[in-house]
Amino acid sequence: MIIQPYDDGIALARALAVRVCAAIEERPHLVLGLPTGRTPLQFYEQLRGRSREQCADWSRVRTFNLDEFVAVAPGAAGRYRAYMQRELFDHVNLAPGHIGFLQGDAPDLDAECARYEQAIADAGGLDLIVLGIGTNGHIGFNEPGPSLEARTHRTRLLPPTRASNRALFDDRMEQVPAEALSMGMATILHARQVVLIATGATKVSAVAQLMTGPITTELPASFLQLHPDATVMVDAAASPR
Ligand code: F6R
Repeated sequence: MIIQPYDDGIALARALAVRVCAAIEERPHLVLGLPTGRTPLQFYEQLRGRSREQCADWSRVRTFNLDEFVAVAPGAAGRYRAYMQRELFDHVNLAPGHIGFLQGDAPDLDAECARYEQAIADAGGLDLIVLGIGTNGHIGFNEPGPSLEARTHRTRLLPPTRASNRALFDDRMEQVPAEALSMGMATILHARQVVLIATGATKVSAVAQLMTGPITTELPASFLQLHPDATVMVDAAASPR
């Protein structure tokens, strides 16, 4: 696992945008896994700020987002799909049919998870996935616990995870969904390259444990130690001393 430290979140976001654009340049059919949350906001801003000449053409890229809330109304601003439209999809020439997203309002959620796994497999698997990390060490919505799910699944969100998503729901905890759909750990670990980004002092403990702690289901990100091509990009505040 490689750790790349940056002075601040902007420098990190710029470097990540350069890496992703270079990957698209090299492989126009890139299959890209993407996160939501606060940490990637500057990264998406960097991508939006690039002209088509500066950043490779997105027309053949396929994306798959990590997760989505269950049972949030289609038009609700708190949906991760709405976040992605605002932050990235509306600003690049990604074909709508190339956007992979979990449907948290599907009538049969188990069938929806199976459909998503198959869609990722049919696309040839993920070439590169960008991950954030929860303060409790979750990646995607793979929460700490006695076991982890390998594949895309329905999951209950822990209170700290719901709290950190409150801003998306008018700051009202009772509005934050209790459940979500998420790629599983094996789905993530099968990506050919993994880049985890962490900024701010609230992440320093999770980053330290992910880098040097035991591999444990109680800190799902620790499984990245087993990945042959994983990079951890941190700003100064999130960097373990
Ligand atoms: C969201 C996701 C989550 C977040 C994590 C950190 O798609 O995959 O694992 O990356 O909760 O969220 P922020 O960046 O808001 O601290």
